[in-house]
Amino acid sequence: MRTKATELVGIDVPIFAFSHCRDVVAAVTNAGGLGVLGAVAHSPEQLDIDLRWIEEEVGGRPYGIDLLVPEKFVGSDQGGLDRDTLLSLLPVEHQEFLEDLLTRYGVPPLPDDVEFGRGMGGMRVDPKSMAPLLDVCFDHRPRLVASALGPPPAHFLERAHSAGVPVAALAGSVDHAVKHADAGADLIVAQGSEAGGHTGLIATMVLVPEVVEAVGSVPVLAAGGIASGRQLAAGMALGADGAWCGSVWLTTEEAETSPAIRDKFLRARSGDTVRSRSMTGKPARMLRSPWTDEWERADGPGPLPMPIQPLLIAPAMARIARVSDKAGTGANDLATYFVGQVVGSMNTVRPTRRVVQEMVEEFIDAVERLARLLETD
Ligand SMILES: Cc1cc2nc3c(=O)[nH]c(=O)nc-3n(C[C@H](O)[C@H](O)[C@H](O)COP(=O)(O)O)c2cc1C
Repeated sequence: MRTKATELVGIDVPIFAFSHCRDVVAAVTNAGGLGVLGAVAHSPEQLDIDLRWIEEEVGGRPYGIDLLVPEKFVGSDQGGLDRDTLLSLLPVEHQEFLEDLLTRYGVPPLPDDVEFGRGMGGMRVDPKSMAPLLDVCFDHRPRLVASALGPPPAHFLERAHSAGVPVAALAGSVDHAVKHADAGADLIVAQGSEAGGHTGLIATMVLVPEVVEAVGSVPVLAAGGIASGRQLAAGMALGADGAWCGSVWLTTEEAETSPAIRDKFLRARSGDTVRSRSMTGKPARMLRSPWTDEWERADGPGPLPMPIQPLLIAPAMARIARVSDKAGTGANDLATYFVGQVVGSMNTVRPTRRVVQEMVEEFIDAVERLARLLETD
């Protein structure tokens, strides 16, 4: 299959896979798509290790790296507040709410020797943590770099383009897509509201054709709600040059999803997700759980903005994750993770390569079925 997007990065099938797991990234690339490593929570050292590993595994085939390179965030207008300053800004009311929540659900404190994530609560979204990640990124040979949360900044575009690397940008609205294209993005990921992770309010079905019309010759990928070949065909029928998928890889054999979360995903229905600010401070789609419900409570303080919310909850997340594998516990109930509405069809654990193969086979069936509708005799 050849589209503007496959030509841009040199792949055989128009499937782009966002994953935090290097094994998934390598497996998708080796199956003919483009694995894109989500690196926002990586330390520079770990990113270097993972990229070396991926390059070894894929033997010259293309892969990508995704970073959250934000235009603005709390503190950036004051020259970028560091972690300690941000920690001192955590309101007492929120700290008390969280401690009370964990106590009510019987989540034990962390032992003294357990680390719970560095940077901004595990997310490296501030300029200070981002710089060394960018250095590692461009010391390697990605075929695509992607940036979410706002138009790719000029310094990022210049650096990528001078290294000959195209830049993808995620957009949840037409306005965002146009801004990204105007800024110089080479590929727009039109991500509908049903997607896992940070997401807007417009559904993929509505967003993709609008974005395709609005950005002219810039290739567009459809994202949000694509986990099968029929959905891939639908995205391409809407004018996209391929699909960008995130959720579907979370229940693959290679995924590093924790057993508690994987089991919840395998059982979940498509109506079991919610857009919540409770993890990052920005609306992100995740599995609904008592955690997301508690943060919605009218008598609670509500989530803080990014990046303070991730900083606030990092120790709580580590406390929950440490004991959440035990079914029937409060920690297991609270456990949640980013996932899109396609979670309802993620009902089996398959090898990543097979997911790609089945998507391609089902895509061909779907296109042939549609073509038969036009046969006259
Ligand atoms: C667990 C998870 C984490 C995500 N984190 C990021 C991220 O750090 N950066 C990003 O650009 N997109 C992120 N996304 C969004 C994906 O890149 C992708 O657009 C989305 O998953 C597509 O919709 P789908 O989940 O229906 O496949 C994440 C998605 C999931 C499921």
